[in-house]
This record gives sequence, C-alpha cells and structure tokens, in this order.
Amino acid sequence: MKNAYYAERVPTGIKGLDEAMSGGFVRDSINLIAGGPGSGKSIFALQYLIKGIVERNEHGVYLTFEERRDKLVQYMKNFGWDLEKFEKDNKLRIIEISPKDVRKAVYNKNLGLKYGTARYIKAKRVAIDSINAYSLLFPTEVAKREAHVNLFEMLRSWGVTVLLVAEYDVEEDKGSPLDFEVDGILRLYNFKKGDTRTRAIEIYKLRGSKHSTKTFPLEIVDKEGIRVYPEQNVF
Ligand SMILES: Nc1ncnc2c1ncn2[C@@H]1O[C@H](COP(=O)(O)OP(=O)(O)OP(=O)(O)O)[C@@H](O)[C@H]1O
Ligand SMILES: [Mg+2]
Repeated sequence: MKNAYYAERVPTGIKGLDEAMSGGFVRDSINLIAGGPGSGKSIFALQYLIKGIVERNEHGVYLTFEERRDKLVQYMKNFGWDLEKFEKDNKLRIIEISPKDVRKAVYNKNLGLKYGTARYIKAKRVAIDSINAYSLLFPTEVAKREAHVNLFEMLRSWGVTVLLVAEYDVEEDKGSPLDFEVDGILRLYNFKKGDTRTRAIEIYKLRGSKHSTKTFPLEIVDKEGIRVYPEQNVF
C-alpha cells in the first residue's frame, strides 16, 4: 500500500496550516474539527469548502443539523463568502437536515436525496455540522455506535474528503469515542489568560502523516476568515 505520507492531499487552503499537515488532509479521508462553543468550527468547515471551490475547483456539500441555512448565508457574508452564488453555480449545496430526515435516511442506510445532491454537483468535499447533533438522534450508546458506523460507511462510499464538526471541551483534554475512528483530528482552543482569550489550533492526529506537534495561534479575521501563525507561540 502506498504510504499515506505520500498520498494525495486535500489542502484546507489555510496558509501555514497545510504546510504543518504535510499538505492537508489525506484524500477521501474522514477528519474531525473539534472545539468548544465559539471556537471557530463552523467558520473553519465552511472555509474548507469555499477554498476547495475557489482554489481547487472541488465542489462541496455542507450538511447542517443545527445552523439555519438563511442565518448561515447571512453570517458568512461577513467573511466575503457569497454562499448563494456558489449554490447557483452548482458548486456548493447547503443542506439543512431535520431529525426526521435523518431517521428516515438511517433506516435506509443512506442520506437518500443528499447523496443525489453530492453526486449531482460532483462534490469532492463534505462538511457535517455537527456530529454531536447527529449522535443525539440515537437513544442508546449501541444505537449511536451503529449510526456512526453507517454514516462512515456511507461517506466512504461517496469518494469525498470529509470534515466532521465535533463539539467537545478540548482544554479538558476530553475526547470523543469517534477520535479513534477518524483519520485526522484538528483541535481548536480558546484559552483564557488574565482577562483575554487567545485562539489556537493543534493538529492532534493525522494518520500516516508527518505533522507539526505544536499548538499555534489562530485568528478569525473579519472579511477574510481563519488565519494561522505556525511560527508563533500561543503565550
Ligand atoms: N466577522 C467576524 N470577525 C471576527 N470574528 C468573528 C466574526 N464573526 C464571528 N467571529 C468569531 O467567531 C466565533 C464563532 O465562530 P463559529 O461560529 O465558527 O464557532 P463554532 O465553534 O461553530 O461555535 P458553536 O459550537 O457555538 O457552533 C464568534 O464567537 C466570534 O468570536
Ligand atoms: Mg457552529
């Protein structure tokens, strides 16, 4: 088997981050972006899709269980991203999924229409916001585990590079059971020191890849999006 280090990469498009990741995510892998509330997970996930479209001509699908579509479109205008324009050009689909849709889809072992959509626009990137919201739909640990297995199986069959948003407290160093299942994990921090908070990012895991082991500063910049500083220290 080809060593994943030399495997084809799917760059996040964030300057400095891709270099710290041997070029980006491994093509067709499933990855997590984890962090607490307001840590920048949704912005990161959308930026990943937009950079894919603009810089690589790789189309994207954003499945959201929690953000309202209209709100998201408005919100992302702050970063200069016109989501509706990308949708009109069939380069992006933002799909709001109701709990009812998911249950139906899971029983059918696929997201039905959603796969049709991904195929229709020839999507190469998929972001799911969030995996917690999806897990909540299943009542027991066993049911959740089965739902994850089904979801992963389905996503792997699509031939896309996936970014799952995961909500958990990275500062407590708590993880999720999914941490063992995915190919890569990025963690977003929002440290408090004195009376200010500092954002940072860590490449926590990247299967088969050489990557930076440093936690480095990250900023959310108005009209631009996420920017990282791999050469700098957090404090
Ligand atoms: N226009 C902007 N310019 C700079 N920073 C912004 C801007 N808009 C939002 N932010 C910052 O980004 C944060 C929210 O980012 P995002 O929505 O990606 O978080 P999240 O991790 O998805 O949060 P949640 O778990 O609550 O969904 C805000 O709390 C704010 O600090
Ligand atoms: Mg969010």
